[in-house]
Amino acid sequence: MEKDSLKPWTVGVLFSETGVTSIIEKTQLKGTLLAIDEINEAGGVEGREISPVIMDPGSEVPKYRIFAEKMLSDPELNVIFGCYMSSSRKEVLPVIERQNAFLFYPTLYEGFEYSPNVIYGGAAPNQNSLPLAIYLLENFGPRFYFIGSDYIYPRESNRVMRNILRQGGGEVVAEHYLSLDAKCGDFDRILRDIKNVSPDVIFSTLVGSGTVNFYTAYHESGGDGFKLPIASLTTNEAEVAVIGQEASAGHITAAPYFRNIKTEENKRFLEKYARKFGSIDEVTSCCEAAYSQVHLFANALRMTGSTDADQLRKVLRGAEFEAPQGRIKVDPDNNHTYLQSRIARVDQDGEYCLEREAIRPIKPDPYLAVPALNDWANAPIRTN
Ligand code: ACM
Repeated sequence: MEKDSLKPWTVGVLFSETGVTSIIEKTQLKGTLLAIDEINEAGGVEGREISPVIMDPGSEVPKYRIFAEKMLSDPELNVIFGCYMSSSRKEVLPVIERQNAFLFYPTLYEGFEYSPNVIYGGAAPNQNSLPLAIYLLENFGPRFYFIGSDYIYPRESNRVMRNILRQGGGEVVAEHYLSLDAKCGDFDRILRDIKNVSPDVIFSTLVGSGTVNFYTAYHESGGDGFKLPIASLTTNEAEVAVIGQEASAGHITAAPYFRNIKTEENKRFLEKYARKFGSIDEVTSCCEAAYSQVHLFANALRMTGSTDADQLRKVLRGAEFEAPQGRIKVDPDNNHTYLQSRIARVDQDGEYCLEREAIRPIKPDPYLAVPALNDWANAPIRTN
């Protein structure tokens, strides 16, 4: 792509502002736009502003592909920030690869994928499932009840979790999947079953509005997070804000970032976020990943002066950024990201409180080539 000092750098932004996953995707959109604002306010890249083309796929998987195609039909647009559900990423992937474009994907996922045209900015299973399994086995017991939304991420993520638990002496006592838009009443049968089976932990891979409805229904049925917690890789501050503090208390999430961590970069990030959007209630790990990925891109663009994917790839591999979560780095081996690894529990006030964290970023192992339980345990951890 030719340099042109007059024109902005056009990028696609593909997150849902409506539909079942909009609670979380709106936070990713805001993280992306905040970073774009920061870069533009500092003079852009080579004097050119970054100009986002924003489309809302309404949480409908085929629309992510249709909109990605539409965005990439503009010869000036070669980079897209977007996607939350793995099903939407899988839909967009062939479009991106066919055109040798670039997708920045700021979401945890099930692993077992590589594309030279994607930078994976969310946690892979060795960075979240593995430490969560160790923590839960140590603190709660071996009997896990799986409940998830019915699509690729929950099913694959549960396959990985089952294998990890087997290594650690755990067992899966039940496994159920519901549609993404499951309502409170749809969980009645499962809530009765949980009472009968009496597991040690509920592991939820529900995403979207089903998450809010399940936590609410669990609380209304007498469920208590301090006695039998729901553990998750996706449930976050934005969802807790909707679920409410009483129904969220005691539940557990593993993620690279929580809003209340104490780093200088996080303080600055939250101040700027509050100034732009008025509140930090919905700041989440996926929002932070989206924010950081835009900065990784802009730093790369400063070096290439071009959005050509082959040039960007060369400088993005190994690229580092001082993110709100701590320092992150794109792993040149696999295009995934070295990330912090944390486990937190919601307290009585609806705030995530850190239970433990690794003291340095964890190298991504998206294929679980080294799936030993003690792989993560070998990284020094802090326990709070
Ligand atoms: C997900 O679908 N990767 C959350």
